[in-house]
Amino acid sequence: MFKNSKTGRKIVAGLTITAMLATLAGCSGGSGNTSEGNSDTSGGDQPVLGAAIYSSGDNFNTYLASSIEKNAAEGYFQCTVEDAQNDQATMNDQVDAMIAKGAKAIALSLVDISGAQTIIQKAQNAGNLPVIFFNKEVTDTGVLASYDNCYQVLSTAGGYGADIQAEQIAEAFKDTSGDITIDKNGDGILQYVMLMGSSDHTATIPRAEAIRSGLEAAGVEYDELECDYGDWDTATAKEKMDAWVSKYGDEIEFVVCANDAMAIGALQSVEAAGFNTDGFESEQYIPIAGIDALPDTLNYIDSGEIYCSVLQDSATQGELVVKVAANLVDGKDPLDGLDGYELEEGTKAIRVPYKAIDRSNTAEAAEGYQG
Ligand code: GAL
Repeated sequence: MFKNSKTGRKIVAGLTITAMLATLAGCSGGSGNTSEGNSDTSGGDQPVLGAAIYSSGDNFNTYLASSIEKNAAEGYFQCTVEDAQNDQATMNDQVDAMIAKGAKAIALSLVDISGAQTIIQKAQNAGNLPVIFFNKEVTDTGVLASYDNCYQVLSTAGGYGADIQAEQIAEAFKDTSGDITIDKNGDGILQYVMLMGSSDHTATIPRAEAIRSGLEAAGVEYDELECDYGDWDTATAKEKMDAWVSKYGDEIEFVVCANDAMAIGALQSVEAAGFNTDGFESEQYIPIAGIDALPDTLNYIDSGEIYCSVLQDSATQGELVVKVAANLVDGKDPLDGLDGYELEEGTKAIRVPYKAIDRSNTAEAAEGYQG
């Protein structure tokens, strides 16, 4: 069934993340050149950007943090991104400390999006500091509208990348000339299992819905064997997938994962059950789809152990967080100098598009992580 060329890599857990965490812990700002127009840098002391991610256990957020630090150090700000360890109260305390240290702007991926109002209040009390929310979309437009100096840097809404993922899966299902046959039982129906994100995340339900509506739109009849929250997390995904693999085995024709961390967990599970170990050459194969196209996943896509992903461009998102913050600190329009981006009404979001990634273009996803 699988006639494609080889590889057969084994899973090496956590290496890249360990490296990223080391970067996070070790990074500080203040070494770069003065940014164009950022008046506060004139004395040689760059202003502080107070930034935190909701959890360093979330590898996509860790890459976002790394991009923010890298761009900040290129001349706009001093910035060490903090880890709120999945606790909004901790994040609130971190913001208090950032303000006490004289931060000129605040950038956060919130633990809990209902905490936005509290953060805004703190920034307002500290002298109308700019606030930029990223990654976890704040959906209460009333809260966003209540504070002029507040914006969001996010990815494209709608299916949050899963509309593209549905197209990839539909195309694979319909392609009977390729290396692998998705419809293993030949019944013309796609049997899949789905691992969703966390129940509190704005993108979780839209991503799941976009799979179903995308398959329907592409004319693919499907049977959703199982669907559950995997909390964006590798270990949780593996645990859920272990149960599904032992229940359905080869009946599973796709594992649809709402992010790459869960795709890696699903891969660990299917490999332990004897699937996918030789990528597209495997005797037994269950295609796995992810979202984010993290560096951690790209080797697996090259080998065929993971079928595809969708790039969520953390490098550009991190760059925009820093540039929008710098513009606001300088009293400029948030989009000043940022050609090609728009400010969405209501959500006050600047959005970065997703891109389909498979073994033909992993280099394009890798590009953003270099340097
Ligand atoms: C999503 C991302 C996931 C996870 C989640 C957490 O945008 O695709 O990998 O990081 O955000 O907020």
